Amino acid sequence: MFGNLKPQAQDKILELMALYRADPRDTKVDLGVGVYKDPDGNTPVMRAVKAAEKRLLESETTKSYTALVGEAAYRDAMAGLVLGEGYDRARVASAATPGGTGAVHMAFELARMASPDMTVWVSDPTWPNHLSMLKHLDIPMQSYRYFDNDTRAVDFDGMMADLAKVQPGDVVLLHGCCHNPTGANLNLTQWAEVATALERTGALPMVDLAYQGFGDGLDADAAATRLLAERLPEMLIAASCSKNFGIYRERTGILLALSANAKDTELAQGAMAYLNRQNFSFPPDHGARVVTTILTDPELRADWMAELEEVRTTMLALREQLASELRRVTGSDRFGFIAQHRGMFSRLGASPEDVLKLREEHGIYMVGDSRMNIAGLNQKTVPILAEAIGKVGI
Ligand code: LMR
Repeated sequence: MFGNLKPQAQDKILELMALYRADPRDTKVDLGVGVYKDPDGNTPVMRAVKAAEKRLLESETTKSYTALVGEAAYRDAMAGLVLGEGYDRARVASAATPGGTGAVHMAFELARMASPDMTVWVSDPTWPNHLSMLKHLDIPMQSYRYFDNDTRAVDFDGMMADLAKVQPGDVVLLHGCCHNPTGANLNLTQWAEVATALERTGALPMVDLAYQGFGDGLDADAAATRLLAERLPEMLIAASCSKNFGIYRERTGILLALSANAKDTELAQGAMAYLNRQNFSFPPDHGARVVTTILTDPELRADWMAELEEVRTTMLALREQLASELRRVTGSDRFGFIAQHRGMFSRLGASPEDVLKLREEHGIYMVGDSRMNIAGLNQKTVPILAEAIGKVGI
């Protein structure tokens, strides 16, 4: 019967990962999948993660099942990290999920249970797997304008005009910070306008927060999410620990559902436990336990924050360096946006043909829409990339 299956289109990001691995050139540069790399090209285990794992190795006495929605300590620590320590517990239902992707998937399912006729509005462009999951779940979607290809900044007027068309009961998917794939983000004044638009339409905001700490800092990157949480009665937040704790393969994420009152919070909590049980039963525990250990121990937390800050400032310095190299190579300021963008990614604005040339002629791998992972660069490869961009004539 498997002969009845249709071949599936490969995920573009994962496809690129495989192409990069197969390329024998030792000068190749990987700007594809969103994984942080240090200046030596490694993705190290963070110091606090290693320390927490050592503690767990010594202290863990069982691997028996834990809670269906994950440990309360983990959910509490993560809600505090995302919403700020003084958050209103009566409003928040939560469930640990397999990574941020698991949280996004559950958020879609939960929203559909509550609002069966909803349309999910996504930014144009958005993370390709958002689109792919919505298609897989057979959930109607619409896009709102987001990125201005000429300025490489947010098309805020276009975005607001499109958000005005959203219907009550619809879901608006927003990137809380470090927009993937563009790197272009709203400022807080603009976020406040988005909150007003959502208030007006009665749509539910759903924030994907996969890069907290990679843009302007842990609190600054959560500021938009917190603003929406304060202004709107209900909200979904899918948060990931993959990037900011560097525990990609542990699959550690959380879904937070904010309600207007304790009764609805209880309903949401029950629905989330149900969804975990139907989809995979208990969520992965190791990464969640590592995160809890770090967030609840002042010393480990401080060390984690310091290392995360190094990661963030390293990426910022690479942005500055690349923008200035490109100024030198092209004699123009047209790549200045790279220093303005935040997070791991920037969309360069190159055509698919030029992206292919970069790959074939220069061994530089970026996603077909010209999204580049800034963290895949180092001080030595920045000038190589700038020269290649100049030669290809982007
Ligand atoms: C990315 O966008 O590269 C990351 O979120 C990793 C992934 O799973 O696609």
